[in-house]
Amino acid sequence: MPDPVFLITGASSGIGAATAHRAAQAGFRVVLAARSKDRLDALAGELGGEERALAVACDVTDFAQQEAMIAHTLLRFGGVDVVFANAGFGAKRGFLEETPEHWRDMVLTNVLGAAYTIRASIGALKDSRGHLLLTSSVAGRRAISGSLYSATKHAVTAMAESARQELDETGVRVTSIEPGMVDTPFFQNKPKGALEPDDIARAVLYAVSQPPHVDVNEILIRPTAQPL
Ligand SMILES: NC(=O)c1ccc[n+]([C@@H]2O[C@H](COP(=O)([O-])OP(=O)(O)OC[C@H]3O[C@@H](n4cnc5c(N)ncnc54)[C@H](OP(=O)(O)O)[C@@H]3O)[C@@H](O)[C@H]2O)c1
Repeated sequence: MPDPVFLITGASSGIGAATAHRAAQAGFRVVLAARSKDRLDALAGELGGEERALAVACDVTDFAQQEAMIAHTLLRFGGVDVVFANAGFGAKRGFLEETPEHWRDMVLTNVLGAAYTIRASIGALKDSRGHLLLTSSVAGRRAISGSLYSATKHAVTAMAESARQELDETGVRVTSIEPGMVDTPFFQNKPKGALEPDDIARAVLYAVSQPPHVDVNEILIRPTAQPL
């Protein structure tokens, strides 16, 4: 049997890049997707080069690019076993903050982008009886004051449960990953007392490494000191 295949959107940085490292260490071949192809190429080189890692430029807000990402994966590696819909970004809190254009991009990336990833990969995941994971957030479990970002992550939490119900009886497992504060470029200023991206990567690999009859549906993971 060839080694299983683990696809990650938002793999060029932060949680996605850390998960790519952990997945490669665990024996997966990896597919790395994001818009920054130069960073993905460098990461693919670190994770074993052509035989083990495929870098795919993909803007998740464009469905044709997501279809091409999956087609490229199937052509190169013959299937996909894990899909981690992780691409996303935030916005300053406050309904008078940021620009309407920033909000639009955030909603399209965090919500529609994740839905497009599900739509593009669902057939391949059914074929492999694979595993779908989505990066929601603590902000997707409790509303945060003045946060449209929090609303996008509530949508992702709901999407994970919707997908779980739809995929029941198909053998596909679904997990919502709900991080608290993680020290990544998500924040303009380095957060104090935050988790490291690898803390989330280990949680992802925990869910993925369970036996086929165990579906870890949600993992909410905060730093030990985070009040909200
Ligand atoms: N850091 C936290 O405290 C925290 C907490 C809870 C949840 N999260 C969530 O965790 C996920 C990963 O964030 P992170 O903290 O690891 O931040 P990050 O280091 O900034 O990573 C964000 C990733 O998303 C990609 N991305 C953004 N827009 C994209 C688009 N349109 N198409 C494709 N890829 C896109 C970025 O790559 P390119 O720019 O190269 O496209 C990058 O790889 C996000 O969904 C975020 O909302 C983060």
